Amino acid sequence: MSLSVLSAPVVVEEDPLDLMDEIDALKKEKDATILAHFYVDGEIQDIADFTGDSLKLARDATRVTTSTIVFAGVHFMGESAKIMNPTKRVLIPDMLAGCSLADSCPPNQLAAFQEQLRSQGRDFQTVAYINTSAAVKSLCDWIVTSGNAREIIDRVPQDKEILFVPDQHLGRYLVEMTGRKMILWPGSCMVHEIFSIQDLIRAKKNNPGSIVIAHPECPQNILEITDVIGGTEKMRQYVMKMEKPTTFLVATEAAMIHPLQKAAPQHTYIPVPGIVASSGETCACNRCPHMARNTLQKVRDCLRDGRPEIEWKDYFQQARAVLDRSLL
Ligand code: 13P
Ligand code: SF4
Repeated sequence: MSLSVLSAPVVVEEDPLDLMDEIDALKKEKDATILAHFYVDGEIQDIADFTGDSLKLARDATRVTTSTIVFAGVHFMGESAKIMNPTKRVLIPDMLAGCSLADSCPPNQLAAFQEQLRSQGRDFQTVAYINTSAAVKSLCDWIVTSGNAREIIDRVPQDKEILFVPDQHLGRYLVEMTGRKMILWPGSCMVHEIFSIQDLIRAKKNNPGSIVIAHPECPQNILEITDVIGGTEKMRQYVMKMEKPTTFLVATEAAMIHPLQKAAPQHTYIPVPGIVASSGETCACNRCPHMARNTLQKVRDCLRDGRPEIEWKDYFQQARAVLDRSLL
C-alpha cells in the first residue's frame, strides 16, 4: 500500500460567514432556538438567541417557544434543558463535550457515600452544583449554580448537615460565605484548577491598579488575592457597572473575555494563564477542551441532521423535581 493512501484526510475549513447564514436559515426551517454558554467560542455566542451563565440559560430554556433547543455548551447543560423541557427536542453540537467536575462524581459512588453517612446516623441534605450528571441530580435535594448558591444554601434547614458535591473549591468558598459546615466531595474543574498563582502575582505587579476577577471554582490560593469573586454573569455585571476604563485580570475560562468585551468595551481584559503542574510551564489550558468541542460547523450539522439529541431517561423525572424547585 502506498503512503499517500494512509495520509490524514484533508479537513476543509468552511467560511464562518457562510456557516452563520446557513445556521440562521436552518433555525427557521427547523423551528429551533440556540442557547450558548459564555465559555463557547465568541462566534457561536454571536449567533445564539440566548447567551449566559448556567443559571440564566437553564431559566431561558424554559421560556423557549420553538420545538427544538440547540444547546452550545456541555452535556450536563443540554441534559438540564431536556429535564426542564421534556416535550422539546434538545440537541447538542457534540455528545463528547463533557465536564471534569461532572465526571468526578459518578452516581454509584455518590449513592454509596450517602448510604455510608446514613448508616452512621448523619442527618444531611445533598446539595449538588449544576455541573453534575442527571443521575447525580436525581440523588440530591438541591441544585446550585454559581449564581444562586448562597440563596439555596440558606434554604437548607439549619438542623441538617450539608453534603456538597462535586466541587471542593466552590464548596469551601460557600462554607466561608454562609458559615454552614459542609462535607465536601473532592472534585474540581480542570480549567479553574490550573491558574498560575505566580503569573497572577506578576500580572498584578505589571498592571498597577488592575482588578482581579475570579470564578469560585478556583482554588483558595487564587481567591485569596482576588478582588471580585463570582460566576460568569456576576463578572459581566461587575465590569458593566464600572465606567472608568480599568484593567481586569480574568481568572476563568478564556472565552469569557468575549462577553466581557462586548458588555464593557472601555476596559482591558487580560486572561490569567494556566500552568502545567509537572513542568511548571504556562499553557493555554485556560480553554475548556469540552466547551471548545462546540464549533459553528457542528452547530450547523446538528441543526441540519437533528442529532446528537439528548434522549429522555426515567430518572430525569426525579432530577426534574430537584431542578425546578432549585432554579425556577
Ligand atoms: P457559570 O457560568 O454558571 O458561572 O458556570 C461556569 C462553569 O464552569 C460552567 O461549566
Ligand atoms: Fe466543566 Fe470546568 Fe469545563 Fe466548566 S470549565 S465545563 S466546570 S471542565
